[in-house]
Amino acid sequence: MLIIHHPAAMTAWAKEQAKAGRSIALVPTMGYFHEGHLSLMRTAARHADVVAVSLFVNPTQFGPQEDLAAYPRNFERDQAMAEGAGVQVLFAPEAADMYPAGFCTTVTVGKELTDQLCGASRPGHFAGVATVVCKLFQIVRPDAAVFGEKDFQQLAVIRRMTADLNLGVEIVAHPTVREEDGLAMSSRNTYLAPSQREAALSLSRAIALARKMAAEGERSAERLTAELRDFIHSFPATAVDYISFVDQDSLRPAEEIDAQTVLALAVKIGGKVRLIDNGKVLA
Ligand code: PAJ
Repeated sequence: MLIIHHPAAMTAWAKEQAKAGRSIALVPTMGYFHEGHLSLMRTAARHADVVAVSLFVNPTQFGPQEDLAAYPRNFERDQAMAEGAGVQVLFAPEAADMYPAGFCTTVTVGKELTDQLCGASRPGHFAGVATVVCKLFQIVRPDAAVFGEKDFQQLAVIRRMTADLNLGVEIVAHPTVREEDGLAMSSRNTYLAPSQREAALSLSRAIALARKMAAEGERSAERLTAELRDFIHSFPATAVDYISFVDQDSLRPAEEIDAQTVLALAVKIGGKVRLIDNGKVLA
């Protein structure tokens, strides 16, 4: 597996692949890999001849009070895991090369997709994500790129940006990969103290509860939300950031749930660790 640090070297590699007639699939990541990331890499291999993974803890998508400095990192472990997943190139740029002096361009996707859900408590987050993903698409020039449904709003934002700016990249969505007990895998799960691990299950269990209530005929988003809020708060040290029933594409709130409705959740555990999860409620 090749390791490339500089954007210009990455583009040179991408051009060579294009010349040789090989298609490229990209998996953008911030590292500290888990099985979710590895599944995305294996899916990428089914969509193109060669797989590139980017590993960049993007400073512009972190708010001033967020965990940029503390974000877990382990380059050697990540390198071995990516190699094991059959990745051809790991692109790990420096922040100074992605955002050199004078950098002043931002890609902002409309507020109808970015102001609510995670955007409400993380202002500027999706502009940071859209800008870095747009840059990664230009640097790596992939035919396809794989993103996880776990970050459901991020996926909607990237789909919109890719269509609106004619970026010509096929966006492939990958289902959320979970631990055996249902917890959605996340690099941030490493922040959970053993005593908080049980409370972290409140998210996936809340989705299961909503499915059960929907199967029994409940369609009101308001009633479901009230029930789920009480359910989540019955776990110790949990604080709901949001519980939203939204249309899967427009992210508009749904009053009555249907087959297009996604339940999206963000919950703070122990006042510090913010976890997200989502899922369809009706089959
Ligand atoms: P990161 O959190 O490292 O996630 C990288 C990719 O892995 C994203 O597409 C994310 O949705 C996916 N992913 C994470 N956990 C997953 C799980 N349990 N199941 C399935 N997919 C999962 O998301 C980012 O990085 C950044 O915002 C990025 C897109 C790289 C831009 O900086």
